[in-house]
Amino acid sequence: NTKQVPQDKSLDNTLALMREGYKFIENRVNKYHSDIFETRLFGQKVICMSGEESAKIFYDSELFIRKNATPKRIQKTLFGVGGVQSLDGEAHAHRKKLFLSLMTSTQQIRLANLVMEKWLDSVKNWEGVEKVVLFDVSNEVLCRAACQWAGVPLLETEVKERADDFSSMVSAFGAIGPQHWKGKRARARAEEWIRGIIEDVRAGKIKTEEGSALNAIAFHRELDGNQLDAQIAAVELINVLRPIVAISTFITFSALALYENPKCKEKLITGESNEFKIFVQEVRRYYPFGPFLGARARKDFIWNQCEFKEDMLVLLDIYGTNHDSRLWDKPDKFRPERFKERNENLFDFIPQGGSDPAKGHRCPGEGITIEIMKTSIDFLVNNIEFEVQDQDLSYSLVKMPTLPKSGFVMSNIKRKT
Ligand code: HEM
Repeated sequence: NTKQVPQDKSLDNTLALMREGYKFIENRVNKYHSDIFETRLFGQKVICMSGEESAKIFYDSELFIRKNATPKRIQKTLFGVGGVQSLDGEAHAHRKKLFLSLMTSTQQIRLANLVMEKWLDSVKNWEGVEKVVLFDVSNEVLCRAACQWAGVPLLETEVKERADDFSSMVSAFGAIGPQHWKGKRARARAEEWIRGIIEDVRAGKIKTEEGSALNAIAFHRELDGNQLDAQIAAVELINVLRPIVAISTFITFSALALYENPKCKEKLITGESNEFKIFVQEVRRYYPFGPFLGARARKDFIWNQCEFKEDMLVLLDIYGTNHDSRLWDKPDKFRPERFKERNENLFDFIPQGGSDPAKGHRCPGEGITIEIMKTSIDFLVNNIEFEVQDQDLSYSLVKMPTLPKSGFVMSNIKRKT
């Protein structure tokens, strides 16, 4: 028994997606009063879904695969070709173990400490400078820390360019035209750089420490016993470095949240660790970053009275699920306290994907993201003072990815004593 799933009538909704951005799925879920609807995007039939129950089904690997789920233009910018995101089954599980082994709580703290060190180093350069754009300096701070943490040699003279390339890969994901081409060039440059480093490590020309990301990826063995192709190894090491740099988006939104919610900021002045944790969680829930995820039906099946056909593209709404009023009381209010009384749930809070990262594609970097955000917020609140002068702090929900327009400009920065 299948019911008629709501169908969006237009011939193709790709333009509507470009016009509505983060709210594309949510707008239709609300219009049709249905968590699931069918539409056409990118010239094909697509099922869009939102909410906790949809997230549960989306992560059922009996029903969905990731092979061919990512458009080529996103592989050529954001993800790279042949990386963990496109693997399924045993090959995925084996590659995923490699990532998870790099991100233990000890490693999270080591990286967060490096980030604080780099922040404190940068303050020296800001004294007497009129304005500092937080997003730009975050990219550089995180690039320095990520490379040092991973064991990747990086000259101070390269930092700006490399940081910019990592950032451009991310800002290309929803873009067309110049922004997309910039992302493609950035990826090509970064892959060539990192591939060279992998080759030098294997040739013994660069020494690496056991347990570092560079060492682990360079010498990783596939299930067949072979090392990764140098190109794939480069894609995977970039899969570690790029998203660390991308945390600057959440840091910039954190600064906006601190500015707009002075009471929350007060709680973080020499606040206890849990105050930082709930603030970070609310930033990751409230502000837009990843819009939705894609997978393909592994086979024909029926769920929730809807027919899924083998190979059909299915999108899971990240932004809408994190703003679903059945899951979140007053979802459009920024309220860190909501996380105090919340039980952990693998499917209702999905800024970095859902389910268990060891069993599916959920982001392995959430621990790292949370620790780096906590440290960076601590730095902004407790280590420096600055002014926020007149600027455009609004952000678009149409442009993907998005950011406060000014990048968050800080003026007259001083070290707190
Ligand atoms: C996967 C978001 C930080 C490494 C993902 C996914 C999302 C995501 C939405 C896809 C989940 C899925 O397909 O089911 C984010 C956001 C971050 C972030 C918003 C904050 C800036 C990180 C960090 C790392 C990382 C810091 C590594 C150090 C990865 C990798 C995957 C992934 C390797 C692919 C996992 C797989 O396919 O199994 N992330 N992430 N991410 N993330 Fe993150």
